[in-house]
Amino acid sequence: MNTSDAGDRAQGTPQPPGGVRVLGRALSAVITRAPALWPLLRGPTRRFFERAAPDWDRRDRNQSDYLAALAAGLLHVVPAPERALDVGTGTGAAALLVAREFPRARVRGLDISEEMIRRATARVGLDPEGRVAFKLGDASALPWGEESFDLLTQLNMPPFFGELARVLRPGGHVLIAASYGNATPFYTPDAVLERGFKRHGLEPVASGEAGAGTYFVARLPA
Ligand SMILES: C[S@@+](CC[C@H](N)C(=O)[O-])C[C@H]1O[C@@H](n2cnc3c(N)ncnc32)[C@H](O)[C@@H]1O
Repeated sequence: MNTSDAGDRAQGTPQPPGGVRVLGRALSAVITRAPALWPLLRGPTRRFFERAAPDWDRRDRNQSDYLAALAAGLLHVVPAPERALDVGTGTGAAALLVAREFPRARVRGLDISEEMIRRATARVGLDPEGRVAFKLGDASALPWGEESFDLLTQLNMPPFFGELARVLRPGGHVLIAASYGNATPFYTPDAVLERGFKRHGLEPVASGEAGAGTYFVARLPA
């Protein structure tokens, strides 16, 4: 992928403020390159997103442009998953898209912000079967056992590689998408994703662009 193209395509799309981009880049670098430092940043990050939650959906979060890269990446997820988890789900836009695309899958969304989870849960309404549900938790210590999911998604959230690999079933997929490509505050370059997942035995499947966004898909061999 030509990342400057992705940046160019993001022009004209509503962009996050500069300060948010700087913070996001710093957090992404720590999480993907030095995750042991995460405990120092957990508190400030949670507080930042608690404050952001009430206005999160005032922007374009549930529109097709915001979700285009994630939707394009999902086309590479074959066969359809049975159990999916969206990490750093915010108000749940990506989790709900996964649930629509894979109507037989049980879908979970996880976030470190209580207010984001409260808002995501409110969108599900009464769901007697509990097919879609949201949970408070930290991506650095996912509250599920080994091999719990066959699809893991992250939209605009940097990956904790080891934890994702731990909860992924053999044959399962991981999809990392960024709504504004390399202009996304929590953007992780493909080369970093490829290296990080390879260290944990995952193989790259596809990467590409859709709208202003980018996606990367990897798979744990069966
Ligand atoms: C940039 S927002 C993206 C939200 C959503 N995926 C979207 O695109 O609308 C990042 C989200 O990840 C959450 N987050 C950040 N660090 C996290 C962690 N270690 N564990 C779980 N959630 C985390 C934040 O609370 C926030 O809701």
